[in-house]
Amino acid sequence: MCGIFGIITDNEQVLGTTLVDAARRLAYRGYDSVGCATLTRDGTIDLRKDVGRLDDVSARLDLPAMRGSRGIAQLRWATFGAPSYANAQPHLDSDGDMVGAHNGNVVNNVQLREMFIREGLVVRGTNDGETCVHAVERHFDRNGGRMLEAIRAAYADLEGDYAFVITHRDDHRLFAIKKGSGLVAGIGDGFACVSSDLPSILPLTRRIVRIYDGEIVVLTPHALELYRVEDGAPIHREAEWYDGPVEVAEKEGYPHFMLKEIHQQPTVARELLHLLDRSPHADRFLEAIAACGERPVYLVGCGTSYHACLLGAYYFGQIAGRIAVPILGPQFIEQCGTAVGPDDVGVFVSQSGETKDILNAVKVMRRQGGRVLGVFNVIGSSLMHHSDVYLPLACGYEISVPATKTFVNQAVLFLYLAYRLAGRDVRPLHALPDLLARTLGESEPYARNVAAYLQHWNALNYLGYGVTHAIALEAALKLKEVTYTHCEGMLSSEFKHGPLSVVHDGYPVLFITAPGDEAMMINHVNEVTTRGGHAIAIAAEHPALRANVHDYVPVPVSERDLAPIALTIPAQLIAYHLSVARGTDPDFPRNLSKTLTVD
Ligand code: M6R
Repeated sequence: MCGIFGIITDNEQVLGTTLVDAARRLAYRGYDSVGCATLTRDGTIDLRKDVGRLDDVSARLDLPAMRGSRGIAQLRWATFGAPSYANAQPHLDSDGDMVGAHNGNVVNNVQLREMFIREGLVVRGTNDGETCVHAVERHFDRNGGRMLEAIRAAYADLEGDYAFVITHRDDHRLFAIKKGSGLVAGIGDGFACVSSDLPSILPLTRRIVRIYDGEIVVLTPHALELYRVEDGAPIHREAEWYDGPVEVAEKEGYPHFMLKEIHQQPTVARELLHLLDRSPHADRFLEAIAACGERPVYLVGCGTSYHACLLGAYYFGQIAGRIAVPILGPQFIEQCGTAVGPDDVGVFVSQSGETKDILNAVKVMRRQGGRVLGVFNVIGSSLMHHSDVYLPLACGYEISVPATKTFVNQAVLFLYLAYRLAGRDVRPLHALPDLLARTLGESEPYARNVAAYLQHWNALNYLGYGVTHAIALEAALKLKEVTYTHCEGMLSSEFKHGPLSVVHDGYPVLFITAPGDEAMMINHVNEVTTRGGHAIAIAAEHPALRANVHDYVPVPVSERDLAPIALTIPAQLIAYHLSVARGTDPDFPRNLSKTLTVD
């Protein structure tokens, strides 16, 4: 949901390459428009921005050549205001003295803009990032040019969740503020920087300062100062040394991050299983679930993470005899918000750990006195801070917007928890990484063939039964996301209750089948094939199932509990290959963002 980066250095230099590199590491957050601003020591502002992807805009506007001692970069995922030059960030104030950029949403954007226009400020677009700049400008003009005070006053005017970075040509400092959106700062030798996320800072420095909501950070080349917005009081916080891996956004020979991340799945699953075996957090997590006794456990997620919750609920029920309620974040608030209480436990699942729909649900659970168990991939995320107990997904950064490896590890984590809740030996789960590796190798050519068949279809269905229901939903989401094709996932036994009417000659229906469900699935396959539909099975080898379908994507034979996780892989590969065949960019599909910090 937009990415911002700001840097201040102790000498004037070519800053463009640093800004573009930082932007590249934030590209997963937004790619509707790109912009950079630099300021030289004499206060000249160079602003270059446009609609489009980073590499195109960078080449067109020669962003790497930009010089200065202060710089700001922004990548936009449009919410307020269509993607356009005027709405691209950074933004200037009325006189062009100040420049700033934001991420997040200012919900009273329209009212503030109208007020600014009435007051005579020069409003050029409709974007709420521009509103942040004018909000500061307005107070700056009134208070005799004190930036820190102007930002504090603007904070009171700006409703919503956001973070922004801003500077004035005559004030040789860089300012940033956090209210609900991610923000982290770093300090190095002769420079300081601030960003929406760690990956853009780590290649520059490992000395990190975390910023919390309601705080302003003031950057100079040799220091970071923190202030509380509420009363302007200084805050003392030591920089911490971040010694995690510097995840460089490299494709490592793969044509796309999505394919690289699909291929990383055996490795990340192995690492997660090792971590869970040794983690005291896993014990505490399980104790918290056990402590809610017979009460249902809520598994709360959105998008792909919700599909993992659906699978998790199945695992909890089937393997551990525990009722779990899979539920979407906003629905948790509406449906259970007043019904849950201090005895309840919710497992809140989010790759980014920043999804607003999830953080809102966490807030409600807290208000009701229930326990918050967090599952996320991004260490240091807001979900981590708001969890009583948490487990990381240990996938490393997932750059591609479609979630792949994080879904697999969410599924692995739920399976592991179900085994532990059931008191079962978890050692058989260590067969999973190898199973995933073999599935990748064996299913790849078949997945390509299926993608070739789907190339000429603009609608299709994925069906799953029992444990593969969640996988069918995830498969459909993945295919829609990266190919812009209408694809619906559902329980195979539901198909006859209406959707069957879409089937006509050649219409593709993919049946994701776990071991033991083949006989049931053969019924559902025939409901489709007798009406002219083209049935494709994704399953371990099964002669009777094979005899009933037109195409088959075979996966290695496995234990029933492990199968749904392996069956995810061919679906990911089909989506990927269809995307490539259609000429869409699987890493950065149109209209989407990796981190959704909006309601
Ligand atoms: O970061 P989260 O897991 O909370 O994100 C939730 C969804 O926005 C996310 O899973 C989305 O559906 C993905 N783009 C799917 O690939």
